Amino acid sequence: VTLLILWAIIGYLLGSIPFGMVLTRLMGLGNLREIGSGNIGATNVLRTGNKAAAAGTLVLDGGKGAAAVVLARCLAGEDAAQIAALAAMIGHCYPVWLGFRGGKGVATFLGLLLALAWPVGVACCLTWLAAAVVSRISSLSAIVAAASSSVWAVLLGHGMMLVLAIILTLLICYRHSDNIKRIKAGAEPKIGEK
Ligand code: G3P
Repeated sequence: VTLLILWAIIGYLLGSIPFGMVLTRLMGLGNLREIGSGNIGATNVLRTGNKAAAAGTLVLDGGKGAAAVVLARCLAGEDAAQIAALAAMIGHCYPVWLGFRGGKGVATFLGLLLALAWPVGVACCLTWLAAAVVSRISSLSAIVAAASSSVWAVLLGHGMMLVLAIILTLLICYRHSDNIKRIKAGAEPKIGEK
């Protein structure tokens, strides 16, 4: 149990690094809180107009989720990997450094899925892409991809991550509450729009 608590703390700290905030500050792109949705994720970084910063945020936010899983798995096994994955998501969504006002967890979710069970991760990334091609709405694509993760986990023989997938899907939906309201009102911007 002590070991699992340790991996929860390491996962949280890794997940709590707000790469979108760090990159936009370093690149002088302004204050993300005053841009678009005010979120710290890649979708909102793209609203600064800088595609490289958005891509960097996507890769680094995904990478920290993957790193938490890989580190925990290598050093402490599969249970620790799942705990680190959950903790990384909580770290991204509720980072102590930003007064617990963090992101929505989509890139981190995809990154940790790729590390936990890559076929499920790839299937969820493709689901996000397909939804994005059809809807052009990042948040809607994220909700569809998150919801598909449980189905992919079972279909692709990774049922042991089903509970985690369901918890993370609920967290992602909760973090997208404002987006869901905007989607219902037809007011959610398309990818790249302000
Ligand atoms: O990854 C977050 C995305 O799903 C929504 O971002 O900035 O449009 O609220 P945003």
